[in-house]
Amino acid sequence: MQKSELKTPYFMIDEDKLIANLEKAQQLKDISGVKLVLALKCFSTWGVFDIIKPYLDGTTSSGPYEVKLGYETFGGETHAYSVGYSEEDVREVADICDKMIFNSQSQLAAYRHIIEGKASVGLRLNPGVSYAGQDLANPARQFSRLGVQADHIDDDVFDSIDGVMFHMNCENKDVDAFITLLDAISERFGQHLDKLDWVSLGGGVFFTWPGYNIEKLGAALKTFADKHGVQLYLEPGEAIITKTTDLVVTVVDIVENGMKTAIVDSATEAHRLDTLIYNEPASVLEASEQGAHQYVIGSCSCLAGDQFCIANFEQELEIGQKLHLLDSAGYTMVKLNWFNGLKMPSVYCERSNGDIQKLNEFDYSDFKRSLSQWSVK
Ligand SMILES: Cc1ncc(COP(=O)(O)O)c(C=O)c1O
Repeated sequence: MQKSELKTPYFMIDEDKLIANLEKAQQLKDISGVKLVLALKCFSTWGVFDIIKPYLDGTTSSGPYEVKLGYETFGGETHAYSVGYSEEDVREVADICDKMIFNSQSQLAAYRHIIEGKASVGLRLNPGVSYAGQDLANPARQFSRLGVQADHIDDDVFDSIDGVMFHMNCENKDVDAFITLLDAISERFGQHLDKLDWVSLGGGVFFTWPGYNIEKLGAALKTFADKHGVQLYLEPGEAIITKTTDLVVTVVDIVENGMKTAIVDSATEAHRLDTLIYNEPASVLEASEQGAHQYVIGSCSCLAGDQFCIANFEQELEIGQKLHLLDSAGYTMVKLNWFNGLKMPSVYCERSNGDIQKLNEFDYSDFKRSLSQWSVK
């Protein structure tokens, strides 16, 4: 399969780039003894799990189907967490998860009997401190429903659970800021943690970012684990797949209204949702900051403000030209939707040996099936 023959839009996952991130994950594990479980909420393209499996210890999830997917396609340790379980959800996953983490003391009390003897029992605590650029993604935001607040914890609970999970970071590239949070947790919850077997520190620690001091992070994690006598976990999502995947699109039209807009055969609302939700413009491989030709890279959806970014180019863009929207894997492929009946991007992996392998493709029948299976009689 030649890249030039592939029909856009499509995602291209680069195996070499993925392995480069995974080698850093391995380094962190070796230094610290931490176990790493992939956060499926961020990335669950199971077609490449065979590449990831040798490096990570398992998966963690946010809903019942992710638990099932992790168990079936990844293996290792399967952690089950949900902000709100129904009894049916708990029963569905009780036999296939290794750890079940409840979000509240009420859910723990209601359902622990279902999993006792089957899986290790955990509770999410909210440390009340966090590192997050945007309020929308801040687990310690005002009135947060994510985890038990420190002043609401019933101290006896620590005698009846095996572990706890804290998740308080979002794209944290600053190791010192992370260590400050770690120290705050140790101080606030330390005496309780001493009674537990494991502590998960959640996701959002961007240890694969260029220049990140992995040694310092590893040493801090090891000190924490030794001090409290616990097995530590991290739940990385974005750190594992960052900068591995392009969304490749084609310019289908160029229009002008005060600025030139290159309209491409994809949309943020359908294929790169976080661009819109977090107002974080995409980067384009072909762009050049000094370029004299500026374009809005506009989507082909009907939403007026739906654009990928504004970018400069050395040459004028042409209809039919392909553009690579960089870093398009995390919280993207898991959120694809059929808005406007746009064609869904296919998914490919470029292997280390140069082979291009197809992982997924969609057609009209997938769109139709997603809307109804039966019509009224
Ligand atoms: C509980 C939990 N664990 C792990 C993650 C993964 O975070 P990231 O992809 O930023 O590493 C998240 C993200 O929201 C989360 O809520």
